[in-house]
Amino acid sequence: MFLGGTQALSAMTHATTTHPDTLNASTLTPFVDPLPIPPTAKSMGLRPLPSAPKTKVPYYRLAAHPIELKIHRDLKPTHFWSFGNSVPGPTLEMRSGEEILVEWANELPQQHFLPIDYRLDGADHGNPQVRIVTHLHGGLVPPEVDGFPEEWFVPGKSVIYPYPIQQDAAMLWYHDHAMGINRLNIYAGLFGAAIVRDKTEDALNLPSGDYEIPLIIFDRLITPDGQLYYPVSAMPRAPWVPELFGDAVLINGKLFPYLDVEPRKYRFRVLNGSNARFYDLSFENGLNFHQIGTDQGLLPAPIDLKRVTLAPAERADLIIDFSNSRGEQIVLKNDAVGVMQFRVASKPVSDNSSLPKELRPVPKIPESQAVKTRLLTLDEYTSFTGQPVLLLLNANYWHDPISEKPALNSTEIWTLINPTDDTHPIHLHAVRFQILDRQSYVPWLYQTKREFRFLGPRTPPDPSEAGWKDTASAYSKMVTRIIVPFNSYRGRFVWHCHILEHEDNEMMRPYEIV
Ligand code: C2O
Ligand code: CU
Ligand code: CU
Repeated sequence: MFLGGTQALSAMTHATTTHPDTLNASTLTPFVDPLPIPPTAKSMGLRPLPSAPKTKVPYYRLAAHPIELKIHRDLKPTHFWSFGNSVPGPTLEMRSGEEILVEWANELPQQHFLPIDYRLDGADHGNPQVRIVTHLHGGLVPPEVDGFPEEWFVPGKSVIYPYPIQQDAAMLWYHDHAMGINRLNIYAGLFGAAIVRDKTEDALNLPSGDYEIPLIIFDRLITPDGQLYYPVSAMPRAPWVPELFGDAVLINGKLFPYLDVEPRKYRFRVLNGSNARFYDLSFENGLNFHQIGTDQGLLPAPIDLKRVTLAPAERADLIIDFSNSRGEQIVLKNDAVGVMQFRVASKPVSDNSSLPKELRPVPKIPESQAVKTRLLTLDEYTSFTGQPVLLLLNANYWHDPISEKPALNSTEIWTLINPTDDTHPIHLHAVRFQILDRQSYVPWLYQTKREFRFLGPRTPPDPSEAGWKDTASAYSKMVTRIIVPFNSYRGRFVWHCHILEHEDNEMMRPYEIV
């Protein structure tokens, strides 16, 4: 069953206000700007580890500050906040087994430029408007450096996080996580890629160097004079909107970019960095994607796809072979809209890279390994006009006592029960997990009597998500089961919906590995 497309649409059922004051992105000339590649973060030398002063490791400093960026040839520069001079910010390159130090600095102004909702937890009047804390999404790191949402800091301050990276090669990303304004800070541009490499990946001889390219996709609403627009509700004192959907789809910070490619294999590291939009990517000419990896690294073997669907925060590692497309111009579409163009050179080239048949074993975790199953509901509360006003996890607010306390090195099944009309991409910090299955059920029976009546068989995850994950779509009116080994670090982390508007309005909970 193909769920991605239809479910993605159902995530957009809440119409927010219309945006008369935004530009219609489809009126811009497409494919006039080359695809920018975010620069690789440069280490500023070696520094001693706070925990082991005799060990010196690469030290980076990434400072959030305002920038102006041309997102399209025919638009004025756009005001963003970034950890570098681009949006996304610089890419952090890391190797498994090698620790690095990152100083995250706040060099932002005192005032926010996007509409804060002061009713939301953490964004209360009296708290500073501009607060940041950076989380390394997908990083299996200790709680002190995980970027707990309440550990934000203000302009003029910084923190130094040692990242002891000991995980499989994967594309991670860093982004802001400040309580109550996370959706605005990320919308403003405070995110970037982080790539972990290891020996297993090295040995595969995948396309690399100039032939490995990140594609970080995020949508925005843009005003006619080229500025970011973040919509507000009709209620001035409650400006929060349930989801942000923009018609301007940017890739690596450009609208409708093009990329000159050689007729050979490329590796694309694709990340959905959007607040709420789900993507359904395909090539206009029907060219295949070979997917080799998911959020947390390589799949056991490549799979061939005509379309790639990505929920917010999900990643896909793709090989695309242009060798039979010499001289062609190929448009990459999201749904029916062209978002990027590949211009394939006509002169043949030699390609020494490989697309191996086997990548990395991903042993399926047997259900019998789980010592506990937790039933967790995803809840949405609407106003009398049917507008969502609050979202909770298992009917708990952020400030309710911690209820999920898995033991270190134990495995649990988390059964995500979704009675809402939305697909919620659920993300757990500090762990990687596997999707067991999904099954349609009758929501009202469960809500009233805690009784499960299932409407069909358990369906296994799509092959494109049958690897290690850190974010999984819990589809509307379905029960999604994930199996999670909690074998990273003891301590307090969070789990949440990665639709950032939901996350900022209580769809996030602390949990503790004990
Ligand atoms: Cu992408 Cu809590 O993170
Ligand atoms: Cu995360
Ligand atoms: Cu959600």
